[in-house]
Amino acid sequence: MIHLENKIYSLYIHIPFCKHICFYCDFPKLFLINNIVDKYLKTLIFELQKLKINHKLKTIYIGGGTPTSVKLTLLLKALKKYVDKNTEFTIEGDINDFNKKKILEFKKNGVNRISIGVQSTDNKILRHLGRAHTKEQIFKKMQLIKQYFSNINIDLIYGFNELSIKKLRHILKEYLSLGVQHISTYSLEIKKGTIFFNQNKKEADDKLVCRQFDIIFDTLTKNNFFRYEISNFSKKGFESKHNLNYWKNKEFYGIGLGAASYVNGFRYKNTLSMTEYLKKNFICEREKISLAENKKYYVMLNLRTSQGINLDEYKKVFSEDFFEKNKEKIKYFIKKKFLRKNKKNIIATYDGSMVLDRIIMDFF
Ligand SMILES: C[S@@+](CC[C@H](N)C(=O)[O-])C[C@H]1O[C@@H](n2cnc3c(N)ncnc32)[C@H](O)[C@@H]1O
Ligand code: SF4
Repeated sequence: MIHLENKIYSLYIHIPFCKHICFYCDFPKLFLINNIVDKYLKTLIFELQKLKINHKLKTIYIGGGTPTSVKLTLLLKALKKYVDKNTEFTIEGDINDFNKKKILEFKKNGVNRISIGVQSTDNKILRHLGRAHTKEQIFKKMQLIKQYFSNINIDLIYGFNELSIKKLRHILKEYLSLGVQHISTYSLEIKKGTIFFNQNKKEADDKLVCRQFDIIFDTLTKNNFFRYEISNFSKKGFESKHNLNYWKNKEFYGIGLGAASYVNGFRYKNTLSMTEYLKKNFICEREKISLAENKKYYVMLNLRTSQGINLDEYKKVFSEDFFEKNKEKIKYFIKKKFLRKNKKNIIATYDGSMVLDRIIMDFF
């Protein structure tokens, strides 16, 4: 039987606006047009209230797009009743949008985690990616942000030919000098509809991607960062609770353009059309998650984390023994050094984490 928690404690809110469009970005985003922002935020608050949440949330994540590109005052006010001192409340932003006034407004409303799309500290690479900020701006603004926040993530993008090993090592050194607690890494994907795709740019080959990731892993783990999920590194105690909720296959609310949610055994996807969204036609896909799919999600997501699959929890959720049921396959992957097992958990090894899709395919 599927064990569902009766309350959902995580909320994702999507703000799709950006002041510029990066050459590689395939996320739901729109060029910032001021005259629809107000209407969007009001519709978003309507969607929030429709959820009828009547308890405090453990995590809130305002992501984008670029949430800091717009005035969030009304939204922050509407969220206040769900926030207490235990809520992990993250806002994602562009380094250049941060100023003292904005920061103080965030603090006043319970925001306690900041995620910044730094991507690189190399000005040539930043220009290549179509980012609007420079290395000098990153270092300057980070000093200000660090005066007010002690839980900060920065994103790092890799996996492209223009990033030499020498440059990557230098960027990592500079990332470490920024003194943040969390680093999310993204391997560049060239997707249809992006500027890079139209320019016929190619992704780096797997060998280079793995070589670059090896260097990222070695450098960060030697400097007190812990890889708690395949692409995410943090100092101890600074893992993102919001993202762990996804990777633990727990349910979550998601509101805003293109947002995903997982509620009462259904996975939903919101519309990507702003016109439809503003008409309050929010949901465009709805899928009932069968028991078999739920098991697949559970295994797939948990294997991304450093804790892996907790066998006791699996038994509690699905009333069956994962190890007994998959003994031969697990033994095969352990022999191949793709999985390891301790008393309570099945965990992907470093090599296993590079071929997770293949492992999952074999299980299901
Ligand atoms: C959608 S963005 C939101 C953060 C913020 N807008 C920013 O970039 O400053 C979240 C992350 O997705 C990454 N991303 C977007 N498109 C990508 C792609 N095609 N390949 C790899 N990462 C991508 C970005 O690098 C970014 O760090
Ligand atoms: S990467 Fe971030 S800032 Fe750039 S276009 Fe995408 S959402 Fe906007």
